[in-house]
Amino acid sequence: MKIDRKEVLKALEQITVPGEGANMVESGAVQNVLTFGNEVVVEITIANPAMQARKKVEAEITNVIKTSISEEAKVKVNVKVVAPEKTEIKGKQIPGIKNIVAISSGKGGVGKSTVTANVAVSLSKMGFKVGVLDADVYGPSIPMMFDVENARPLAETIDGKSKMKPVENYGVKILSIGFFTKPDQAVIWRGPMAAKALNQLIFDAAWGELDFLLLDLPPGTGDIHLSIMQSLPITGAVVVSTPQNVALADAKKGVAMFQQDSINVPVLGIIENMAYFSPAELPENKYYIFGEGGAKNLASDLDIPFLGELPIVQSIREAGDLGRPAGLQEGTQVEEIVTDITRNIVTQVIKRNDNLPATEAIKITTMAGCSSVNK
Ligand SMILES: Nc1ncnc2c1ncn2[C@@H]1O[C@H](COP(=O)(O)OP(=O)(O)OP(=O)(O)O)[C@@H](O)[C@H]1O
Ligand SMILES: [Mg+2]
Repeated sequence: MKIDRKEVLKALEQITVPGEGANMVESGAVQNVLTFGNEVVVEITIANPAMQARKKVEAEITNVIKTSISEEAKVKVNVKVVAPEKTEIKGKQIPGIKNIVAISSGKGGVGKSTVTANVAVSLSKMGFKVGVLDADVYGPSIPMMFDVENARPLAETIDGKSKMKPVENYGVKILSIGFFTKPDQAVIWRGPMAAKALNQLIFDAAWGELDFLLLDLPPGTGDIHLSIMQSLPITGAVVVSTPQNVALADAKKGVAMFQQDSINVPVLGIIENMAYFSPAELPENKYYIFGEGGAKNLASDLDIPFLGELPIVQSIREAGDLGRPAGLQEGTQVEEIVTDITRNIVTQVIKRNDNLPATEAIKITTMAGCSSVNK
């Protein structure tokens, strides 16, 4: 049996591209069609980086060829996602910084900093300009995860003003409270003080142009969080949880904090970290030690997106300690999973910016003897 290329193009005309009002062939999404006997290779480009969107398009193409030409057709679809730098991201609020995404959790130690570091390097690999602001006033760990523990930001003069120049590694610009505190000294922060310090790290720093500034928050839902949320225009928040009930209960509180009226920061979704264990020698095996689907169910109960699950693997922990995020290791399962999660975050940010106005920073003027925290 021999399938004709023209027949395939005709079949593909039945598929419309959402939002474009044109079919796939007219819109230019179909790059190439090759046929060899009953084998068909369709090469397309799409703008939506989400895995689900790719899978959906693949299924649609296969289906339309099989039903309108032959059930015997063997269809292979090559999907190329349009370079993300071409995706326009709206929502400018701080000059040069397009989106601030807060990474949070109710419970401590669930992997916020690990997720922040990995998503940051993944965004950078996709071609975005990325910064990480380590806002964990209790235990800043981003400098260690990026192997810049001993680095100190230098000053740079911009328009006659002295600004802090973020430290850079793996294509990511980094500032951390940890650069200014002694490692073994406990610092006691009150909310407004912490917010003031973080405001300086944002406004008195030479970040340059950034598509994303990731904010690695301290654990919990306390006074510090309220101050940070209220003083910075946060595009959206990602909540990290592990599968245990205690962590899920705290994640729920975290989501509620963002959604409360006085804060009103859109929740971009939930990530389940340490979702299952995969031994290095049997990476296909998944052991759901703490039970399966907890965070996914929580996301659906709360009607917020589920962004993906990250397994517990030794390489993630080792990479964190070594200061080279595991998401950088090309061709590994972890890199693939991190890339997927990152794509889902980007998709949610794009959706959020299309549907909602910019988040406003609420001005806190005076609070318990502290002067203005907002500029
Ligand atoms: N998926 C994973 N697989 C293996 N180890 C992990 C994973 N995620 C995190 N870890 C390890 O667990 C520890 C805690 O992670 P991390 O510091 O990212 O959590 P955190 O939520 O930022 O903690 P804190 O609340 O203290 O800020 C680290 O040693 C990290 O390397
Ligand atoms: Mg942390």
